Amino acid sequence: MILVNQDALEFHLQTNDSSYIIKVAETGHLINLHYGNKLKHREHFSTLDHRFNVKLGSTTNYAPEHGNLTLETLKLETACYGKGDYRDPQFQFEYADGSRTSDFIYKSYKLNSKKIKIDGLPSCHSPDNKNGPTSLTIILHEPVKNLELHIHYSIFESANIISRSAEVINTSSDIVNIEKALSACIDFSHSDFELIHLEGKWTKEAQLTRHALNKGNFQIDSKKGVSGANHNPFLCLAMPDCDEFKGECYGFGLVYSGNHQCSVEVSPYDYTRVMLGINSFDFRWVLSPKETFSLPEVVMTFSSGGLNSMSRNFHTLVNRHLVQAQWQGAPRPIQVNNWEATYFDFDAKKLLSIAKKAQELGIEMFVLDDGWFGKRDDETTSLGDYFDNKKLRGGVEKLSKRIKDLGLKFGIWVEPEMVSIDSQLYKKHPDWAIQHSDRSPSLGREQLLLDMSNPEVIDYLYEQLSNLFTRTNTDYVKWDHNRNFSDIYSAFLDKSQQASFSHRYVLGLYLLLEKLTNAFPNILFESCSSGGNRFDLGMLAYMPQTWTSDNTDALERMSIQYGTSLLYPLSTMSAHVSGRPSHQVLRNTSIETRFNVAAFGNLGFQLDITQLTPFESKAVKQQIAFYKQHRSLLQYGEFYRLKSPFENNQMLWMVINDDNSEALLGYYQKQQQSNSNLESIRLPMLNANDYYQVLNRPQYVNIRQFGDLVNEQLPVSIKDRGVLHGLLANHYMHEVTKENYELYGDQISAFGIPLKSQFVGTEMTDEVRFIGDCGSRIYQIRKLEINQ
Ligand code: GLA
Repeated sequence: MILVNQDALEFHLQTNDSSYIIKVAETGHLINLHYGNKLKHREHFSTLDHRFNVKLGSTTNYAPEHGNLTLETLKLETACYGKGDYRDPQFQFEYADGSRTSDFIYKSYKLNSKKIKIDGLPSCHSPDNKNGPTSLTIILHEPVKNLELHIHYSIFESANIISRSAEVINTSSDIVNIEKALSACIDFSHSDFELIHLEGKWTKEAQLTRHALNKGNFQIDSKKGVSGANHNPFLCLAMPDCDEFKGECYGFGLVYSGNHQCSVEVSPYDYTRVMLGINSFDFRWVLSPKETFSLPEVVMTFSSGGLNSMSRNFHTLVNRHLVQAQWQGAPRPIQVNNWEATYFDFDAKKLLSIAKKAQELGIEMFVLDDGWFGKRDDETTSLGDYFDNKKLRGGVEKLSKRIKDLGLKFGIWVEPEMVSIDSQLYKKHPDWAIQHSDRSPSLGREQLLLDMSNPEVIDYLYEQLSNLFTRTNTDYVKWDHNRNFSDIYSAFLDKSQQASFSHRYVLGLYLLLEKLTNAFPNILFESCSSGGNRFDLGMLAYMPQTWTSDNTDALERMSIQYGTSLLYPLSTMSAHVSGRPSHQVLRNTSIETRFNVAAFGNLGFQLDITQLTPFESKAVKQQIAFYKQHRSLLQYGEFYRLKSPFENNQMLWMVINDDNSEALLGYYQKQQQSNSNLESIRLPMLNANDYYQVLNRPQYVNIRQFGDLVNEQLPVSIKDRGVLHGLLANHYMHEVTKENYELYGDQISAFGIPLKSQFVGTEMTDEVRFIGDCGSRIYQIRKLEINQ
């Protein structure tokens, strides 16, 4: 609900569990009164307008008629520089006369029944609010310079999300330079928070970081042109006692895929200011009279039930209000991707042999990765030339047809935003590459960026790609982006526009994606940027899933996927079982653990499945059958983080259905500990009076792992690493200890699932669990019908 106290000009945005109350102050500035637990609507909220009522030394008084009032201690909803607020501003403009002071004053407001679409930018949609308006627009006016700010707020009641975006409108007759324009500014009057964010790098994305706030400004950002693996455009402010299940926290995410900045500033008065938006670094936008500049959307949520509930709000938002309608709740196919299986070294025969094996195993889609076009046999060439390579006799059309004849879907990799210097496209259009003619450009992965700010480039790419998608009748596209920006200069833009290039690039990309996804609504797009270098809410608005990381090692993926889940639901995370040893860390993990990690997300296989041993083939076949049986839970179930891999030797997470009658619990151990303690797993989310059965997914252990000790279990004696040992290891499916626990929901919540003891080096019986290094289990939990 959006409720307005007309006289006091107070606006109360309510979701199911939160309230966001703002007000027009006596000065005309928009201020925040409360963001947090849901409050009952009242005739006025004047008591919440808590301010200093003493003259503060060394402050700047806003205006004589307002006495001691200083902007420095107001909780401003829009913050500008120049009138006495010395915190970092949200907006900075330079006007035609060189002056730089701005002051936006309330003019009017509008309520809208529909969610406002942001021009040229992706945004959340289809709110399912029960009644009343969905959006509130507050119009502010700069009286001296004649500029308008339209601040849009929308509510998503059941997701407990409030979104914000803004437009800057030049209603003057002069040009205005926008130096900085962030999407949202939220002030709190205390700084008791800890900050949580996701940092990382290539093959090490989404590392969860938590630390106290200090006085001063803390900023994460991207200057790479893409949102970047270094800092996801996401922040969380959590009270120190907030954990996964309890305590208050606020989450903020930015729906944008380019350079961003997300900051938290603690002022001398211990106010906390949070701001998110397009990075003001290397940014200037020249706004001519009558023009509008739109800012990307920020989504915010408050949770009093800990981090899991914050994440659940974001997950609901993404699944129901961000991804395009046709992908909401849509089952995502299990894929085999040939990248780590073959890299560039393949021909049609090899690919078809992988596809045939995939079909036998129950895989549903074959994805042809890099190397199928131009003369691309390595990274140095052919980006931009999306015509068939001679490796594939008959080309991709024929391959696609043959794959489809096998009953599989067909997917293809492209990297449209890039060009290789060694390409026909570059020869024809060197001016389409981002570089300055006076300097030799620095290369990233041997390639240059295409000028996505140039409409000719967008048109060209649209044509090339539409043609490719149509002729291959593709079901899925992996859209890659493998270099960060450098040597920024666009031959298309004029001098005054150069500093807006990075943002114009993103706008060009969004335009292309809008056109393509409209033209090909049935193609499932997956975003990729050397893994998770562009895992953001903006891309998800067009592409409902993302390649989470180029790191497919199961152990590394545990923390990457755990961290990613803070903001992004499982349906957005692609996770593949890859080869042994891991190509990224050369670690050997069992095929079962590789699956147990990849199963929590959109499952795929990225290894040469034609080389699987009979043991592995059988295990994989069973894994795929299991995944299909539980797909809706594994892609769309309510996700809980239970034990963090960032702090523990073990990791636990789970998914559960709507009525708590079915759940899957992932249990992972990094290292086997000697003489380990008893373990029981407490799950607070089950129904107290329901009776549950907990079974482990049947999985198998390769007896090679036992070496000589295998003789302890066998009636005959075999030689360690002998021929017979090898033969047995490749064929014999040694099932892990069966576990079956039955107990009531309240017992699981208060006491926990009483797991069997782990192997401690003394005996291996049916009562002992051997988990081992990088070992794991998936436990199926289901409600049993019992007679009362
Ligand atoms: C990037 C992607 C990989 C793969 C290669 C192909 O690194 O992240 O998954 O597609 O490109 O060149």
